[in-house]
Amino acid sequence: MTIAAKHTVGEIAAEFPNAAREFEKLGIDYCCGGSKTLGDACAAAKISVEEALERLEKSTSAAQKSDPGQNWQDLPLADLIAHINRTHHVFVREECPRIEALAEKVAGVHAQRHPELEQVADVFAALANELSVHMMKEEQILFPYVIRLEESHVAGEPAPPAMFGSVVNPVRMMMQEHDGAGDALRSLRQLTLDYSVPEDACASYRALYHGLQEFEADLHQHIHLENNILFPRAVAMEGKR
Ligand SMILES: [Fe+2]
Ligand SMILES: [Fe+2]
Repeated sequence: MTIAAKHTVGEIAAEFPNAAREFEKLGIDYCCGGSKTLGDACAAAKISVEEALERLEKSTSAAQKSDPGQNWQDLPLADLIAHINRTHHVFVREECPRIEALAEKVAGVHAQRHPELEQVADVFAALANELSVHMMKEEQILFPYVIRLEESHVAGEPAPPAMFGSVVNPVRMMMQEHDGAGDALRSLRQLTLDYSVPEDACASYRALYHGLQEFEADLHQHIHLENNILFPRAVAMEGKR
């Protein structure tokens, strides 16, 4: 595939794992906004399509030589699920309590001069709470079902019965929850003026903004793997039974 303006950003990131990094740099939302075409996404991010294409071209060809990334389109869904659980779910569980504590501490010390820190702490605490319930639903209901669905598919058997009817239903619910998480990430960005650390910031303040930025990048990649690869492949597999 040669990247063009008509392709969706989700398709591009799924096909070229290294394109995701470039999207992060360009401020293009490729996870929750993955169904937008590159042309529309560039318009929304106020950048020229030509420039984006040139940068994507460079980054995907250069990066693919040194680090091909993992192309999950052709690997078993069970492997992709194991990867999501092992890396992204573990990361969220490790980082949420650390960042929450840091955000409260920094707000306690600096909120008088930087009142937005109270909101940062509140928005992050709500996001952490939602993610914890969300990941539990994926791990206990949706992911085990997708693994069984793939096993039946490989064995040429009908899809196993599910209490939620079609897999489309929990997928839709998870995607709605991803949209909510994407909104929270956007408000954190707005509140922190794109994570610019003020001059009077202490080390904890810097650590908080750094942690939040890494959390954002990881969650973008996490949601991308689910929205643009795992979910569409599971829905297609169910349709083919
Ligand atoms: Fe997840
Ligand atoms: Fe998810």
